Amino acid sequence: MKASHDDLPPGEALSLARQCHAQGDPWQAVVHCRTALSGGEDPVEALVLLGRSLAATGDLPGAGHQLSRAIETDPARADAYQYLAEVNMQIGRAPEALRCYRHALQLRPDDIDVLNGYALALWGTGQLDEARSLLQRAVEREPGHAFSRRNLRLLDSRLVDRWHFAMVNDEARNRQFAAALERAITPRSVVLDIGAGTGLLSMMAARAGARQVIACEANPALASLAREVIRDNGCSDRIRVINKSSLQLDPEADFPRHTRPDVLVAEVFDTMVIGEGALNTFTHACRYLLAPGATVIPRQAVLFAGLVESERLWREGGADRAAGFDLTRLNQFRPDSIALEAASFGGRLLADAFPLFSFDLTGGPQTPAKVSLDIPILEPGVCHALVYWIQLHLDAGAVIDNRPVFDGEEQAGHYCRHWYQSVKLLVPPLPVTPGMTLRVEASHNRQNVAVVVMDPHSGALL
Ligand SMILES: C[S@@+](CC[C@H](N)C(=O)[O-])C[C@H]1O[C@@H](n2cnc3c(N)ncnc32)[C@H](O)[C@@H]1O
Repeated sequence: MKASHDDLPPGEALSLARQCHAQGDPWQAVVHCRTALSGGEDPVEALVLLGRSLAATGDLPGAGHQLSRAIETDPARADAYQYLAEVNMQIGRAPEALRCYRHALQLRPDDIDVLNGYALALWGTGQLDEARSLLQRAVEREPGHAFSRRNLRLLDSRLVDRWHFAMVNDEARNRQFAAALERAITPRSVVLDIGAGTGLLSMMAARAGARQVIACEANPALASLAREVIRDNGCSDRIRVINKSSLQLDPEADFPRHTRPDVLVAEVFDTMVIGEGALNTFTHACRYLLAPGATVIPRQAVLFAGLVESERLWREGGADRAAGFDLTRLNQFRPDSIALEAASFGGRLLADAFPLFSFDLTGGPQTPAKVSLDIPILEPGVCHALVYWIQLHLDAGAVIDNRPVFDGEEQAGHYCRHWYQSVKLLVPPLPVTPGMTLRVEASHNRQNVAVVVMDPHSGALL
């Protein structure tokens, strides 16, 4: 119950409102603000605080109304613009929010909170460069301001996916790509590296003796990083970075005169092979960018799956009983698949692993869009999950994969750990016995893979 103090002097009500707001009781602050306003004392201050407090209680339209009144009364109140901007962001009115932040910044060009709020709003509307320069300004103004530093780091880290770190540190992957490039490249080779990232594979190609390397990277932050990395490593004379999607490369303008690349290397695979657009990237490159008969690395990519018993894995994305209560209804919000390092959860294969799709990356025949497989169960148990992994055939001599090690197996030599695995959980888990077969139907649309498993007892699709 909120206490009303209608008889409080307005000045006292306002100071109580401030206290309540500061102590995390915006509901009582609203009551005191209204008392302060009824006395007519310092209405702008009371309106701004009322607006902030209403926003904190979740009454965003009310907050917007009071803050607008404050601005009408005193158009020089930077804080009213700032809070109104915050309210507008929360109710999805980004253009109004940006307009309010602009006013607030004009009134208080050095205000750290305005700089941060404005930057986050610009970021939210995709204006990353502008957001970054405001955050840099905030850090310069107040180097010890932890939130400005955190926001700047957050923004920079969003420009490049975190898996780039694990990927460049994946020595098994790097070794095999370097070996395949060395086998393919001659001193006359022109290499096209699609999805160059940091420039790592391009530099491997230059080190293997390529005459010229074209490093194509769609992400602008990575493309400019790659230029610097390549320069740091003394490879700029033979590698040219182009910041474009390969689908937009123009051989006449982008390649050396009368030259078509005779080696393609592209590591553009996600944990389901095709999620990064690999199929279109390779098809387009083979058709429109490469010299006839060019070497393509990798030349084949296979998506494998295994039926796995692992209760620990299942508990990462499935619910049944918890503390004696039935929580199965939570399963309606389960994801279709989750990415994790499946091997770290332990698990047993209940059937031989099987390929779902095999993609020819050299411009050969297309993979059918749908397959229906009957997988014979070999071990009794409970099937909790379908675990996926990928296998890349770089050339005749090098295959890499991220097949997890299941219980009782030895680690193979070509395991690339950075990819993790995608896992589809079976909800509810499926008891299985040898002699049964499980029907697995998989479809792809060149960008995504969707799989259903059929419960042989009920016919339900899992
Ligand atoms: C998995 S990373 C590989 C980076 C680097 N090649 C390596 O192996 O360390 C894939 C990169 O390809 C880029 N990419 C994916 N498809 C592309 C395309 N069609 N054209 C240009 N860049 C692409 C992404 O932006 C991402 O940086």
